[in-house]
Amino acid sequence: MDHATARPLAAIVLAAGRGTRMRSDRAKVLHELAGAPLIARALGAIASLGPAPIVVVVGHQADDVAAAASRTLPHADLRFAMQAEQRGTGDAARRALGELPADFAGDVLIAYGDMPILDPATLGAFRESVRARGDALAFISVELDDPGAYGRVTRDAAGAVSAIVEARDATAAVLKLCEINTGIYLAAAPLLRAALGELRADNAQSEYYLTDIVAIARRHGHPVSAWRAPNPAEFAGVNSREELARMEAQIREDVNRQLMAAGVTLLDPATAYIAPGVTVGRDTVIGPNVQILGACRIGAQVVIEGTAWLRDTVVGDRCHLKLGVRAEQCVIGDECEIGPFANLRAGTELEGHNRVGNFVETKKARLGRGAKASHLSYLGDAFIGRDTNVGCGVITVNYDGYDKHVTRIGDRCMVGCDTQLVAPVTVGDDVYVAAGTTIVRDVPNGALVMAHHPQRERPGWTAQWHARHAGHPKAAPHPKAEGKTGGNAGGTPGA
Ligand code: UD1
Ligand code: CA
Repeated sequence: MDHATARPLAAIVLAAGRGTRMRSDRAKVLHELAGAPLIARALGAIASLGPAPIVVVVGHQADDVAAAASRTLPHADLRFAMQAEQRGTGDAARRALGELPADFAGDVLIAYGDMPILDPATLGAFRESVRARGDALAFISVELDDPGAYGRVTRDAAGAVSAIVEARDATAAVLKLCEINTGIYLAAAPLLRAALGELRADNAQSEYYLTDIVAIARRHGHPVSAWRAPNPAEFAGVNSREELARMEAQIREDVNRQLMAAGVTLLDPATAYIAPGVTVGRDTVIGPNVQILGACRIGAQVVIEGTAWLRDTVVGDRCHLKLGVRAEQCVIGDECEIGPFANLRAGTELEGHNRVGNFVETKKARLGRGAKASHLSYLGDAFIGRDTNVGCGVITVNYDGYDKHVTRIGDRCMVGCDTQLVAPVTVGDDVYVAAGTTIVRDVPNGALVMAHHPQRERPGWTAQWHARHAGHPKAAPHPKAEGKTGGNAGGTPGA
């Protein structure tokens, strides 16, 4: 594409409608497909052509739709036009025109916000063809075996496009036509302004139809071309929950097929929910019931056993995620072993060769290379040094009811089981923490730290306790004799 000679391009996206057939309290374009609202997906494709400004026509839940659009394109020249009452696609386009500079004389791309699987390459090819032919008005059409409720493309005796006729206004003969309007148009701004000014609502729905600009342009002597797109599926709009689910399944199938073609094993593709844009390295094996959402990068030779939920997370090479791992906004280095049943919350960073085992919860926790927390821990707002072993049941006490505080543990420490670290607190390198210690002060390098209450025993106490409950309905039938021990319960006093 020759940018030096390209005419300026603006875009209009229609997203004011409620989407009656969704039977929802939310605007249709806010419903999500493969993890992103419909409007975000449509805008993403449109933005690939670099139009400025992009005017989004909003109506139903205008603020939420505008916010979703802004989140999608934070750096674009995005503007919003309000259409409080939905009087048709032509009325919506007219309102958008009001947000373009009055002297804008370039091309205007118009699309609908509920078309979520548009391919940017298709839009590019369409624009290039229109530019090469010098059309003042063109739109994308496709051939459908079952053209249903779509607008039909009618042609004159010479085969030139003469109009788009909405299904509800079409004669039986026109309804038989299989070339339909996808709803994507490219128009020279001056022609668009003139044509929109001439719209009338004299049709079955008493609406202003954007599609009428085709017949109007012809009346003014402008040829109109329909650019026949090869893949009709791309232009499917979402009108109902069923269509949404079908499209979701279609996207998922495509993503899974591409991943398998690239060398990823999916043990059960039917239950692998992987967002478009996620990258997965070669020879990685993904088990059943796995969701990998948002912007995830999964390394090579990783094993994800199954029942995992990952969002916006990086997983290094050769990691092993056992059954039941949940991770959000985490960076997991190479060769880590996680789970089963581990919850890695936002801000968790594992440098590599780490082990985070069952029932361990981490949040804003950085574990240096080789550090391990194998069982039943909470590590929040914590920095844990290299090769440190965090024992079973260790807890960082990070919250005082007002603020969160940081725990730092050095390299090569042995943090005994059932230790609490009351933050803010720093434990040096090479420290041994005795089991059951509550650490309330900083500990220097190389120290042993313990805070044990002296152990006390009352020999024979259990039998006395049972004796006091002799008449109780739950009374033990054969209380153990004094002094005898079962297993290691009780032990030897003073040992
Ligand atoms: C429209 C086309 C039809 C085409 C089909 C392709 C018209 C008149 N018809 O029909 O030729 O085959 O799309 O999918 O354009 N909207 C507004 N304001 C309004 C009305 C609609 O913003 O007043 C928005 C909707 O939110 C939606 C889009 O425009 O995103 C399309 O509207 P919709 O009612 O779905 O048009 P269709 O009947 O599908
Ligand atoms: Ca539609």
